Amino acid sequence: MNIAVISYSFTGNNEALARSVAKALSAEYIRISEAKPRTLGRITFDMIFDRIPLVQPKPEQIGKYDIILFFGPVWMGKVATPLRAYLEYLKKNPQKYGYLSINGGADGPNPKVPGELRKRTGADPVVFIEQHIADLISADHKPARKDTSAYKLNEGDINQLTGKIVKKVRDMI
Ligand SMILES: Cc1cc2nc3c(=O)[nH]c(=O)nc-3n(C[C@H](O)[C@H](O)[C@H](O)COP(=O)(O)O)c2cc1C
Repeated sequence: MNIAVISYSFTGNNEALARSVAKALSAEYIRISEAKPRTLGRITFDMIFDRIPLVQPKPEQIGKYDIILFFGPVWMGKVATPLRAYLEYLKKNPQKYGYLSINGGADGPNPKVPGELRKRTGADPVVFIEQHIADLISADHKPARKDTSAYKLNEGDINQLTGKIVKKVRDMI
């Protein structure tokens, strides 16, 4: 099966995990980047104006894969905006996809994400995994937003999460 793992990452966590999963699945890895540096101000701006930022590489190249596994953070309860161009592309060019995210979770789950994915792509993902940093930091007390936002996945986290994700992906596809 021809699998592409595509990630966008602002602080490095989703990229580190996506690279590790791509290697374990022998999938092609694609990193989404932007010409303009991303700032907290631009994150807010995108959200307010519902922007679809320009990204590289262009989404048109993903047609050749059997399944695409997207990795990216959640911002303000929504899928990080640099993934939007890819999600919208799938609406006109339907294709199997998965959505995997390592995000903060300091305020609990992100209930709007599944509906947003359906709205943007026109279909539900075949694999959906949301991993919260709050659960990695502590099982028994809720860490604050500043702690989850500052957390960098370590090698142990990456290995543990890769094993969990690869198993679930193999079971689902
Ligand atoms: C502006 C901003 C908003 C965020 N909003 C959320 C949120 O709504 N829900 C959540 O679970 N995490 C939220 N986070 C935390 C990130 O999802 C988390 O830090 C993630 O690990 C970042 O992934 P990255 O390192 O791949 O960029 C937010 C982070 C930033 C910077």
